[in-house]
Amino acid sequence: MASDASAATTRITPAALLSRKGGEPIVCLTAYTYPIARLLDPHVDLLLVGDSVAMVLHGHKTTLGATMDMMISHGQAVMRGAARACVVVDMPAGSYEDSIENALASAQRIVRETGCDAVKLEGGVAIAAQIAAIVAAGIPVMGHIGLLPQSVEKEGGYKIKGRSDANIAALHADARAVEAAGAFSVVIEGTVEPVAADISAMLAIPTIGIGASPRCDGQILVIDDAIGLTVDRVPKFVKEYALLRDIVSDAAESYAKDVRARAFPGPEHLFSPSKDKA
Ligand code: KIV
Repeated sequence: MASDASAATTRITPAALLSRKGGEPIVCLTAYTYPIARLLDPHVDLLLVGDSVAMVLHGHKTTLGATMDMMISHGQAVMRGAARACVVVDMPAGSYEDSIENALASAQRIVRETGCDAVKLEGGVAIAAQIAAIVAAGIPVMGHIGLLPQSVEKEGGYKIKGRSDANIAALHADARAVEAAGAFSVVIEGTVEPVAADISAMLAIPTIGIGASPRCDGQILVIDDAIGLTVDRVPKFVKEYALLRDIVSDAAESYAKDVRARAFPGPEHLFSPSKDKA
């Protein structure tokens, strides 16, 4: 059942999620729109307005198509629909990597214009100074290590992490850097299971897995993947909890049949000339 986002409800804070390290798993999903935020809010602890919105809703090939304006517009829609979940908005590629000043200004703009609870940045050692500056300015940060979709062009594809000793050492360094910089949690994406589990055991902040390990402190999926609305390739790490693409396609087929047969609209959908019958 949908919640009423306008009802007085206490929102789950980043600090509350931090305190759940090692406890009940933290339930996270992405959300990009008002109705989906309304529907998910009663069931999850955290809603991420992921930069995956560029691919999922806007049809870009990678998340590099996301812009600040796009993230803010979807962040505002999700905030209107979510009353209790902690809402995190992704910082798009280009908004934080080059300098601490740019990172801080971008994070402040996202929070000011959406009212979200936290921002998320991709990277570890390379952006630890940006995370520390944003946290010092009073904005909670979620980290993101392992497979970094914003680096897909630089890396020449989506490469699973943690398959060599050097890469495992780099992942450990990234995890420690994100924690030391003050992040309240960290997403671990596309990382071999034992490495993700080891990092979860090593850190004092909650880890949120996606293509990682059930031993992470929580899990996240892209909502369109989870409800079977993804029309292109469904990644291996996804479990589809519904098949909405079939439902949408069947509904469109039935509607088209009705319209062509003049079976829709029916009498019950029409307005009569007299007011009392309408
Ligand atoms: O953009 C996104 O949806 C994400 C999740 C996959 C973690 O970053």
